[in-house]
This record gives sequence, C-alpha cells and structure tokens, in this order.
Amino acid sequence: MEVVIKSSAEEMSKLSAELIADVVRHKPRAILGLATGSTPLGTYKELIRLHKEEGLDFSRVSTFNLDEYVGLTHDHPQSYHYFMWENLFKHININPKNVHIPDGTSKDVPGFCRWYEEQIVKAGGLDVQLLGIGSNGHIAFNEPGSSLGSRTRVKTLDEGTRKDNARFFKTMEEVPKYAITMGIGTIMDSRQLILLATGAGKADAIAKTCEGPITALVPATIVQLHPKATIVVDKPASTKLTREYPAEPSVLVLS
Ligand code: PGA
Repeated sequence: MEVVIKSSAEEMSKLSAELIADVVRHKPRAILGLATGSTPLGTYKELIRLHKEEGLDFSRVSTFNLDEYVGLTHDHPQSYHYFMWENLFKHININPKNVHIPDGTSKDVPGFCRWYEEQIVKAGGLDVQLLGIGSNGHIAFNEPGSSLGSRTRVKTLDEGTRKDNARFFKTMEEVPKYAITMGIGTIMDSRQLILLATGAGKADAIAKTCEGPITALVPATIVQLHPKATIVVDKPASTKLTREYPAEPSVLVLS
C-alpha cells in the first residue's frame, strides 16, 4: 500500500488522473471502476483535460461505477448517472454502450446486482478502481459493519452518510435511504485501487485506514490487504497519520 500526501487537492487530483491515464495508455480497452462524490471531481477535470489537450483516448475504455441511489431516475440531478454524464462522460469520447452504472430504478434489484457482477467478470475484471472514503470509513456505500467479502447488493445508508449527503438535496427527507453498491469483495478484485481523500473531516478515517487494524467497522481498512493500492490525500486529510510516508518509486515516476 502506498500512501502519498500531496500539498493540495489539485495536486492529489493530478496524480490520481495520471495513474488512471497510465492504465488507459497501456491498455486502450481498460476497464475503469469509477466513483462519485466531491472528491473525484478534480480527477475527472484532469482526465477531461488530458483527453482534450493530450488526446487521451477513451473510445475503447469501459467503465463500471461503484454505486447508485435506489429510487432516483437517471435524469435526477442527484443521481449518480446524472453526475457521471455531467462531470465526465459527456466531455470525453467514451462509447455510451461501454458505460455501466447501477440502476437504482430496477424492479428486480437482486437480479440486477447479479447481472452487474457478471458484466464486470465478462469485461475481464476491473483494471483500476477509484475510491473516495466516507468520514465513517465507508467505501462506495459499504457502511461500517459491511461484510469484507460482500458483492454488489442493496445497502441501507447510515444516518451519518445521509447527513453528509444532505447538502445535495433540498430536505433531509429527500435523501435516499438505500443504494445499490459494489461490495467490498467486488472492489478488492480490482487489479489496482486508488483511494482519495481531502479535508480535515477525513483525517480520522484516513489514519484508521492506513494505520489501524483491519476491521469491518472501518471498511476502507481492507485496502491494506490489496497488492496494488495507492492512497492519495491532501495535507488536511493527512494530519492524523503518525508514520512517515516517503514517496514510493512507482508514484515518483508519475508525479
Ligand atoms: P465525498 O464522498 O467525496 O463527497 O466526500 C466520499 C464518500 O462518501 O465515499
């Protein structure tokens, strides 16, 4: 596990975009696992820039998103479908047929979740999965207590997560209570993980993720077991780390 502390959120985003671009350059048919939330926005801006200014080609890339709220239609401004098209897909040359986002309007959620898992396998598995982290240590919507071997399924959101996300909705009642999410086992099957965090509100979760014991009570701690995980944070998110984190050679090449 590599832990990289960057001077700013912008620098964090540049490195994470470069790590993803590196995968795409080496494998034009790369399978990318993507995330939503405020944290990956800078990464998507940089990927758009790399596409527009440096010709980074997404035409053969496929994507699988981590999660989606149950009950929100694809055109709902707070749905993750809407988020992904607005913030990334409509700005790059991705083939819409290669985009996969869990369907929160599915009438058969367990059947959909099985299908989603099958599609990832059929595509050849995820080459890299981008992750944010909740202030409670969740990854995707795998809330504390989630099975560390879980697969794609529906989860009830913690009240804390609903409060964190309430800023995007008019009232607390509008914040969905359930989400379809890749499981922790699904995420861990990805060949590479990039976990991002910014701001002091994530410092506690990041310290536990990097230095705490592996526990389902802080789902992100599972990344300690991944053979190729890079955690990239800004200074405020790093303040509760106690060890030194010298840059690893693989990241030095790209930074
Ligand atoms: P955020 O969400 O990027 O909006 O902080 C991260 C998460 O909850 O996984």
